[in-house]
Amino acid sequence: MTDRELMSMAKEASMNAYVPYSKFAVGAALECKDGKVFTGCNVENAALGDTICAERTACVKAVSEGYREFRRLAIYADSENWCTPCGSCRQFLSEFARESDIEVLCAKAGGRYVSYKLSELMPHTFNW
Ligand code: THU
Repeated sequence: MTDRELMSMAKEASMNAYVPYSKFAVGAALECKDGKVFTGCNVENAALGDTICAERTACVKAVSEGYREFRRLAIYADSENWCTPCGSCRQFLSEFARESDIEVLCAKAGGRYVSYKLSELMPHTFNW
């Protein structure tokens, strides 16, 4: 699968975002080592702190289905800025990137994207 195809899955996932509060829809597509892709969107809650980001939705879907090894993550939002993962998502994803790094593709409105390694977005992760 190409980067663009993965990103278009993330964009499609953003259509399911439940964002009555922020109106900021995010979609993520997480590619496993074997090529399987899990998508996710952000799901907000009236108790705002209980909101779950798109990246964590995708990651939890994957892990709960028995997938723990990931290759790439595409994140899409129709935003002015590159949609990079928040700090909590970086830490959360890093739990599953101890053996090998994840490439993180961050898009903005129009679909252009930049690519990072998770380890560069989140160096010195908390581990014990
Ligand atoms: N959000 C994500 O889904 N992923 C991120 O990496 C950043 C933020 C969501 C959370 C909330 O629903 C909305 O975007 C605004 O913060």
